[in-house]
Amino acid sequence: MVLNNDIFAKITIFQTSLNKLFITLFFYSLMVTLTYQERFKTIKGVFDEFTNRTLFILQKKGCFDKLVSPIAIGKESNVFLASRNDSQVIVKIYRIQNANFSKMFSYIKKDPRYGFLKNQRRQVILSWAQREYKNLLKANQLKINIPKVIGWKNHILVEEMVGDANPALRLKDSPPKNPLAMFKEIVTGIRTLYKGGLIHGDLSPFNILNFQEKPYFIDFSQATITKTPNSEELLQRDVKIICNFFNKMNISANFKQTFLKVTK
Ligand SMILES: Nc1ncnc2c1ncn2[C@@H]1O[C@H](COP(=O)(O)OP(=O)(O)OP(=O)(O)O)[C@@H](O)[C@H]1O
Ligand SMILES: [Mg+2]
Repeated sequence: MVLNNDIFAKITIFQTSLNKLFITLFFYSLMVTLTYQERFKTIKGVFDEFTNRTLFILQKKGCFDKLVSPIAIGKESNVFLASRNDSQVIVKIYRIQNANFSKMFSYIKKDPRYGFLKNQRRQVILSWAQREYKNLLKANQLKINIPKVIGWKNHILVEEMVGDANPALRLKDSPPKNPLAMFKEIVTGIRTLYKGGLIHGDLSPFNILNFQEKPYFIDFSQATITKTPNSEELLQRDVKIICNFFNKMNISANFKQTFLKVTK
């Protein structure tokens, strides 16, 4: 079929308008997404373009509906509460520019799953977030109390919120009513993870939530597989920190005995 110039010009105009419409729609939907982020203007360096795009993708996938409020600024990430249907979820955004990626690299490169990584900021941080996602999936299969992971993309993770109306408090801020029972449950949790091939690697009263007097392990970004060369050292560190915490609560938590209990 031969198109005369007039028809060809009309088709071109139509296509250009259609493209403009799609672009406008895309940015409009992005704007809808971004308006609530205005509330977080004070948190500098988090909502760059790449982050906004990644949030948009996770939102479109149905991982969350809306960011609600910031809840914590960690060493490497900013953590937000978000809504999802009738529930609340956690959105953890690793900072790309503003994180100590050399330290992260020194940890992650020991993990055989990430032996291929080069010392490049972006690659390290995206892998760091991916590793936390994989760790949470693996830990979830072991049926211990952890938040279920809902989604991951680039440097952002979405997971269940542990808590009811509000996020549960950290063990550090919410000491157990029955320290011995809590200690035993934590040791069982460490053992279950270990037997399942995983070591948390950053376990402490800061990374355990006390929800209805049950321990929930969170923050699996440093967790590694037991095949990692320094994994025993990491396990010892976790056990030592937990024993020290409970010793201060008048529980005789002996490191050697506890370590044996975890590994035997
Ligand atoms: N699933 C969750 N449910 C409820 N609260 C959570 C959850 N995940 C994280 N939090 C809250 O957000 C805080 C920071 O989360 P997390 O420890 O994963 O991030 P982080 O960047 O490693 O922080 P830090 O550097 O302080 O360890 C936690 O101490 C906890 O108060
Ligand atoms: Mg933490």
